[in-house]
Formats: sequence, structure tokens, C-alpha cells
Amino acid sequence: RSKRPAGAPERKLARAVTKVGVVGAGLMAAQLALLFATRLKVPVIITDIDQDRVDAGLAHINAEIDKLLAKKRLGRDAANRTRALITGSVTKEAFADADFVIEAVFEELSVKKQVFAEVEAVVSAECILATNTSSLSVTAMAAELRHPERVVGFHFFNPVAQMPLLEIVRAPETDDAVLATAFALGKELRKTCVLVKDSPAFVVNRVLLCLMGEIANAFDDGTDPHVADGALRPMGLPMSPFTLLAMVGIPVAQHVTESLHAAFGERFRVSANQQALIDHGIRGLWAPASDGAVEVPASTLAVLE
Ligand code: 3HC
Repeated sequence: RSKRPAGAPERKLARAVTKVGVVGAGLMAAQLALLFATRLKVPVIITDIDQDRVDAGLAHINAEIDKLLAKKRLGRDAANRTRALITGSVTKEAFADADFVIEAVFEELSVKKQVFAEVEAVVSAECILATNTSSLSVTAMAAELRHPERVVGFHFFNPVAQMPLLEIVRAPETDDAVLATAFALGKELRKTCVLVKDSPAFVVNRVLLCLMGEIANAFDDGTDPHVADGALRPMGLPMSPFTLLAMVGIPVAQHVTESLHAAFGERFRVSANQQALIDHGIRGLWAPASDGAVEVPASTLAVLE
């Protein structure tokens, strides 16, 4: 019986990936760069719009490698090799000889389209352009490129090192070699790959946002967040919805909800209190306490209506 994941083309169509580019040097991009370098053992370049952001991304990666070393998840030699594989640049020209470039920039379609156009201008015709978008249309991102067949969705989950799932998104023009390479790469990254349709928020986020959205709505109903969080604990979830929302980040959850709202109307909406927190620039709501309980900072609660 074939072990090929459902919808995956023949593995022999897959192309070799010997150099990876990551657009963005934020938290998700840094996690991706580290995963690619540790699992594929190929050079990885991260880029961002200025040197400070690139430096912050590299510093985050180095701190993560230090943690892996301290926990003995990585030996000293492997840690040094991984550090040497990851470099930063402020120009996308650094991607010239990359075979696979993944973007993890701001969740705004126009920004992602611009990034792909800039990358396409410097890479070879075969270089794959992948997007880690949480909810935007992969088809729309590819539409104006010279080679739309090179675009694929490659959607990871937080924390990237630990979450086994990878949603691979095929757009109508994605070709079989690109898809086969995406599946082969996902396997090398030791992820469980599932092929999903290019629909708003794909599969997992659509379901997850119901849970996280409703828990945020509990604030609007005046429910004590500790009570709501505690009520869900016996469900045996690996993380409570509050903790998950804090980890994913309220702005990301908001972008996903907006995509879902645009597609499905009132089934999904940004809660009034969630919007209040975003308006006040509060990025994460709840910080997990050391004993696993969830603390809601008083300063955060003060923002709520
Ligand atoms: N690098 C590599 N592997 C690591 C690691 C690291 N830094 N840290 C831990 N691991 C491995 C461990 O070795 C262990 O593997 P094993 O089972 O083979 O031994 C595994 O990861 C689990 O490690 P822990 O025992 O530390 O994990 P916990 O039991 O505490 O669980 C968790 C941690 C997996 C994060 C769990 O809390 C969980 O599943 N939470 C839910 C997270 C979730 O739902 N994320 C999705 C968010 S939505 C999203 O991101 C999409 C976006 O588009 C919005």
C-alpha cells in the first residue's frame, strides 16, 4: 500500500532543495529558519526591511539554539553548524541561488504579492515560492507572477518546532513538481503533511478560530476569563484557548477572523473587546503562569469595556 499522503504527486517529481530563503525576520520567520537549518542542514538566509529587524531575528534564533543546547536537544557541534548555516540580509538579491523561498511577513495580501514579485525578479524560474499565510488566498498571491505555477501554501503551526502538522495548499496553477517538492520537504522537516484546498483559513485555523473567537467573545458577555478557561480544562486540550490566543497573538487571530468574516459573514467576527485590545496596541492577552494557570494582567483587563 502506498504511503503517499492523499493528493501528493509522485515523489520522483520532487526537486532538490539546497538553499532556502525566508522573507521576514519576525518570530514565525525565525522559527522557520531554525527548523529548515536543523532538519535540512542547508544554508538559510533571512531578510527583512532593515538591518535592525534582521539582527533581532538572528539574535532570536541564536537564543533558541542556546536553549536547545542547554536542554541537550542539540549537541555543541550541531549547534555551531546550525548557527553557521543561518545568515541575514536586507536585500532579496541574497536569494538569487535559492531553490525554495518562504514568506512569513505581515498578513496583508498586497504586502505578500509585493514580496513575491520582488523575489521572482531575482530567483530562477524553478525556484519555489511558498507562503506561510494563516488565511489569505494563495491563488491571489500567485495571480500576477510570471510563473504562478511555482507558488504553494506551506502553513506551519506554533510552536513550529513542536507542532507536527503542515498544511500544504495547492492553488489552481501550482504544478505537480512544486507540490511534490513541498511534500518531500515537509517529510524531511519531519512534519505530517496534509493537502488542503485554497479556501479562507484552510482547515485548521477555521476550526481553531471558532474556539478562540468564542472565548474572546466571553469577555463581551462579561464572563470571567479564569472561569471560562477553567471550564475548558477538563476537555483535555493541550493548551487552553486563552493560552493559545496569547501564543498566536491577537493581531494574527484578528487577521484570520477578518478573512473568515469576509468569506462567511456572521459565522465569524472580531469581538468588540478583542478590537479594543488591538486598538490599544496590546499584542498578547494572556501570559501562561509557571503552574499552567493563566494570568490576565490588570492593565489588560482595564482596557476591556
Ligand atoms: N525543538 C524541537 N522539539 C521540541 C522542542 C524544541 N524546541 N521542545 C520540545 N520538543 C519536542 C519534545 O521532545 C516532545 O517530543 P516527543 O513527544 O517526541 O518527546 C514534543 O516536542 C512535546 O514537547 P513537550 O513535552 O515540551 O510538550 P508539551 O507536552 O508541554 O506540549 C505543546 C507543548 C506541543 C506546544 C502543546 O502545548 C500543544 O500542542 N499546544 C497547542 C498548540 C497549538 O494548538 N498550536 C496551534 C496554534 S494555531 C497556529 O499556529 C496557526 C496560525 O496560522 C495562527
